[in-house]
Amino acid sequence: MLGSGKGSNLDSIARAISSGDLLADVQLVVSDSPSAGILDVSRKWGLPSITIPASRFKTRLEPEIEEELACSLKAAGVEIVVLAGYMRMLKSPMLDAFPRAIVNIHPSLLPAFPGVDAWRQALLAGVAVTGCTVHWVDGGMDTGSVIAQREVAILDSDTPETLHARIQEAEHQLYPQVLNSLRALQ
Ligand code: GAR
Repeated sequence: MLGSGKGSNLDSIARAISSGDLLADVQLVVSDSPSAGILDVSRKWGLPSITIPASRFKTRLEPEIEEELACSLKAAGVEIVVLAGYMRMLKSPMLDAFPRAIVNIHPSLLPAFPGVDAWRQALLAGVAVTGCTVHWVDGGMDTGSVIAQREVAILDSDTPETLHARIQEAEHQLYPQVLNSLRALQ
């Protein structure tokens, strides 16, 4: 599992595994930020974790660092790479090492509102419904084919924070369900 954020999706996945709703194991948690909350969540569940060394680039890793990442995941026995709030693009070292085996969750109904702060983009656009999407990862930004989506209605009273919180509730239900059915979809 790869993330740069607070780790609430990891928490929901670990909870689904511990309750028996998700038949999977988290082999390794990886963050590109040593202070990311996802590493605290990882410790809370007793999961192994590593931090990717600092990169010169904001939106991607150096190829040699990405190669090392792929090796670490392979060595840990990872079959499916699960991204949640990992804010860099993956390139050929990872895409070649894990063909059709990397998934991401995005806080909008893709292809609407790719990129950062998708919930804020939805509010600014004035749409009535947004949501979240689980999709296969390709070399683009939030462009891989869609696996499943969940809608979230936008309320008149919504702020970016309240809307993102409701989208995250939907994410926490959708992601474990999709991961459970993934082998059949590969
Ligand atoms: C999630 O809302 C996820 O959809 C979003 O980052 C958040 C991570 O939350 N991802 C993106 O915006 C990717 N483009 P978490 O760290 O609590 O799981």
